[in-house]
Amino acid sequence: MSAPMPSGVAICAVSEVAEGQRKLVFVEGRSVVVFRIEGQWRAIENSCPHNGASLAGGRLDGAVLSCPAHGLRFDLRTGRAVGGGHLCLGLLPTQVIDGQLVLTNVAAE
Ligand code: FES
Repeated sequence: MSAPMPSGVAICAVSEVAEGQRKLVFVEGRSVVVFRIEGQWRAIENSCPHNGASLAGGRLDGAVLSCPAHGLRFDLRTGRAVGGGHLCLGLLPTQVIDGQLVLTNVAAE
């Protein structure tokens, strides 16, 4: 018997994303990029806080993601821009349940 599902949306099987890899998913009309970094899961809105570019193809250096548009770098552990500044990624809360990565803050709108 499996545990009851909390409110949220399963976005992929954890086996689909290897360590250091990413996956672009579409959830409830939102474009979301999921990363598996240092054994942790990070999900972000696929929109750079600088000017809205897609971050799905950005270069990943450890936990630091570079935006392909203008090169701003963001630490996926905190969401914050590397080197200061006020820009911050939209980190989305996730939880692993029964081998599925679940986005837990999907509001029913
Ligand atoms: S849109 Fe990402 S750095 Fe400009």
